[in-house]
Amino acid sequence: PGDFHLTHKAAAKVVILGGGIAGLTTAYELGKAGYDCTVLEAQNRTGGRNFTVRGGTSTTDLYGHQQTARFSDGQYMNAGPARIAQWMLTLDYCRELGVPIEVFTNENADAYLYNEKSGMTAPVRYRTAKADVYGYVSELLAKASNQGALDQDLTADDKERLITFLKGYGDLGSTLDYTGSERRGYSVVPGAAGTPGVEYGGPPTASEVFATGVGRYFSFEFGYDQAMLMFQPVGGMDRIPHALTGAIGSRVIRTGCVVTGVTDKAHGVTVTYTQDGRARAIDADYCVAAMPPNLMAKVPHNLGSDVQSALLAITPSSSGKIGLEYRSRWWELDHGIYGGITETDLDVTHIWHPSYGFHGKRGVIIGYYNTGSNADSYAPLSPKDRETRAVAAGVKIYGDKYRSELATSFSQHWRQFPYQEAAWHSTPGGPDAPRYNSLNDPTGHVYFAGDWLTYMDAWQHGAFASARKTVTALHTRVLA
Ligand code: PHE
Repeated sequence: PGDFHLTHKAAAKVVILGGGIAGLTTAYELGKAGYDCTVLEAQNRTGGRNFTVRGGTSTTDLYGHQQTARFSDGQYMNAGPARIAQWMLTLDYCRELGVPIEVFTNENADAYLYNEKSGMTAPVRYRTAKADVYGYVSELLAKASNQGALDQDLTADDKERLITFLKGYGDLGSTLDYTGSERRGYSVVPGAAGTPGVEYGGPPTASEVFATGVGRYFSFEFGYDQAMLMFQPVGGMDRIPHALTGAIGSRVIRTGCVVTGVTDKAHGVTVTYTQDGRARAIDADYCVAAMPPNLMAKVPHNLGSDVQSALLAITPSSSGKIGLEYRSRWWELDHGIYGGITETDLDVTHIWHPSYGFHGKRGVIIGYYNTGSNADSYAPLSPKDRETRAVAAGVKIYGDKYRSELATSFSQHWRQFPYQEAAWHSTPGGPDAPRYNSLNDPTGHVYFAGDWLTYMDAWQHGAFASARKTVTALHTRVLA
């Protein structure tokens, strides 16, 4: 896609509701083209869900839980977006804005899989699970093919090629049996002459391997949005809104401004808001509403019932994360795990190892990244109780150090967070369904933008793409 700019300059006054990625990008791109923009942001910082928590960061959620992060210097958690695929517009903005990036490890052969509900009593490494699942699937398919079960579909040549592939894919012996493999891993790693290494014992039976259900995690990395390599900004995801905010200029952005009304008029738009409790109003030629749709639906406006019912059709989703700071990087020292994700069927769901600060003294593990009812079950708990419950889950996988090395924690639940009340959204029927015409097209002088109006909801890419679409439409109209 490369870097984007609107061709030809123009001058009009635009008020932008929301200083998240879509709102900031709208101001940034329109600003480059000569527009006079004002961003109204409810919080005391820009970025929206792009939120990096460091020592000293404070929040109060809708339950009234107050937290101030006690992370030590250099440690952080990305409470919102945390990974970027190579094809995403997010990387184009990092390049254009000079935000340095580094690899984010989304998949790691040495991370664990743990399905308690399937009766697993100990975690298994990804590599071991893959060796066994691929091994047995290959064995069964090779034997079925040899026994003629696929003769309807395959010629003799096809079958020979398939079996050649499966022998390599599953590490099968000459009898097409999977009997284990060095791919499972070693209890003593190979070394100097005299130390050939000790492989893990033979594999469980095929029946036992399938019963654990570990194979269900392997397809995650096949997703177009989740495949390695992935990236993150050096020092925290908020380096992106930080750079955008700097490029836009502080004069353009007003924080602490809560929108209370949007009125489209014959020749422009008036937006009312409160700033630190005081009622204010701003007139502009155009408005771009880049707020969460669930909150925009609560703002009085005169944009009509089509707009209102479209906003209400887009529903908020739940997600939460807890950052656990440890006094040592025991996962590197004791487990040989450098980044990547442990997958579980526990209510913590995903446990993330940090992809920065390797071999440092301390580190922050994401002790849960969960969604839906799992996230909602943690949200009402006090931050301390969330920590206790998350740590109890992690101890099952990693042992006592998961508790004994813990220094401090910070947790975030987006559905219960002021000025968001959603981690992301569900847009039934997709963003091109006719019911959303009133959001994809302007109503009078009012436009919409946000990841929730794209095919990449829950990604910053969606917010960038939506902002580009909206500023292009607005600019085309102004130039006409
Ligand atoms: N972008 C978010 C993440 O990567 C949410 C998401 C998860 C979106 C999985 C699509 C697929 O965690």
